Amino acid sequence: MKPFVYHNPTRLYFGEGSLQHLGREAAKYGKSVLLVYGGGSIKRNGLYDEVLRLLEKTGTKVIELAGVEPNPRLSTVHRGADLIRENGIDWVLAVGGGSTLDCAKAIVAAAKYEGSFWDIVTRKAAVESALPLGTILTLAATGSEMNANSVITNEETLEKHGWASPHVYPAFSILEPLYTASAPKDHTVYGMVDMMAHVFEQYFHHDNRTPVQDGFSESILRAVVEAAPKLVNDLTNVELRETILYSGTMALNGTLSMGIVGDWANHDMEHAISAVYDIPHGGGLAILFPNWMTYVLDDNVARFRQFAVNVFGIQADGRSDREIAEAGIQALRDFWNSIGAPSRLADYDIDDSRLEEMAEKAVGDGTRGNFRKLTKQDVVNIYRLSL
Ligand code: NZQ
Ligand code: ZN
Repeated sequence: MKPFVYHNPTRLYFGEGSLQHLGREAAKYGKSVLLVYGGGSIKRNGLYDEVLRLLEKTGTKVIELAGVEPNPRLSTVHRGADLIRENGIDWVLAVGGGSTLDCAKAIVAAAKYEGSFWDIVTRKAAVESALPLGTILTLAATGSEMNANSVITNEETLEKHGWASPHVYPAFSILEPLYTASAPKDHTVYGMVDMMAHVFEQYFHHDNRTPVQDGFSESILRAVVEAAPKLVNDLTNVELRETILYSGTMALNGTLSMGIVGDWANHDMEHAISAVYDIPHGGGLAILFPNWMTYVLDDNVARFRQFAVNVFGIQADGRSDREIAEAGIQALRDFWNSIGAPSRLADYDIDDSRLEEMAEKAVGDGTRGNFRKLTKQDVVNIYRLSL
């Protein structure tokens, strides 16, 4: 294990009835709020009306920013920051999936920054302060509800990058499984792939003295592997939604990365794909991750063997460690196929015409990842395996 500091300031309200805490939280942050949401799912599942009713009780003035895109865009961030400045708004409430939350994180920081927010995303400038942010999550996936990360797309340059700041941790997040039950099958699946991918990014490292972290990771993965096939056939099952919602939060709230250095190359490779082709993040990860695993397997066969045995229950049956490890990767492919995740770039009509361009976006002028430091050529090779 490496030395680490851990601090997570987000107050988490989880489970049935949690939405009732909104009024008490709202009263803490001021008299006017920017309500940020996506394309309308919260109106269709009744959450929008409920949120307005609870805010009204506190006398909070509500200004709205609707229409945050999946893969949220820089121009939307600027639109939100302008609304805050024009209306003197005190705080921001994001209601929706990871895209809405990520956009709101950028807005609370952009409202306090004079230049283009792309300066912050590209690390030319740092966040010095931000407005308070509360979130109500409607899709189990990113972990954005309890972390300091956000991913923004620059639609003009076709770049998509993550950025983070301790100033944008949600002050509070409300997670009611019921409000995730309206998520359609495809986004439910992408979300489950994404949370598993977050565990992988933190599980595949070369430190062999992390038994507690390994156990946490394997437990989340096993829970998703058990619940996911049932959930895709029973989308409104709130008990299964609860397991998946909790898994998504725990997969990326900092717990798993205590004492380890994560990899994150698959995320960089996926962000480059969705920057160019605007595909769902979880869909891209489902395509890339098994191919990355095969590509780097020989760097640490023992780690992949452990994954195969402890997550998918692969039996040795007289096979070599490498064969057991390979069986684990195949089990992951089969599992993701079985719940309806995509497995080839061709599933999104992506051919080999822009692989170099995407690889350049993914690695910049360096390498990506820590399990193996991937060069631009490695990334092209993995994209090719994924065609
Ligand atoms: O826009 P609405 O109408 O709300 O519909 C959304 C959207 O179309 C729909 N949806 C969400 N909750 C629903 C629902 N539909 C019905 N009922 C509900 N309860 O689902 C669609 C996808 O939503 P989106 O927010 O885009 O999905 P997700 O949560 O997967 O977020 C993806 C974004 O997060 C970034 C990704 O790159 C991508 O931009 N990530 C953010 C991370 C973070 N902040 O820590 C980490 C991740 O690795 C990821 O990169
Ligand atoms: Zn992700």
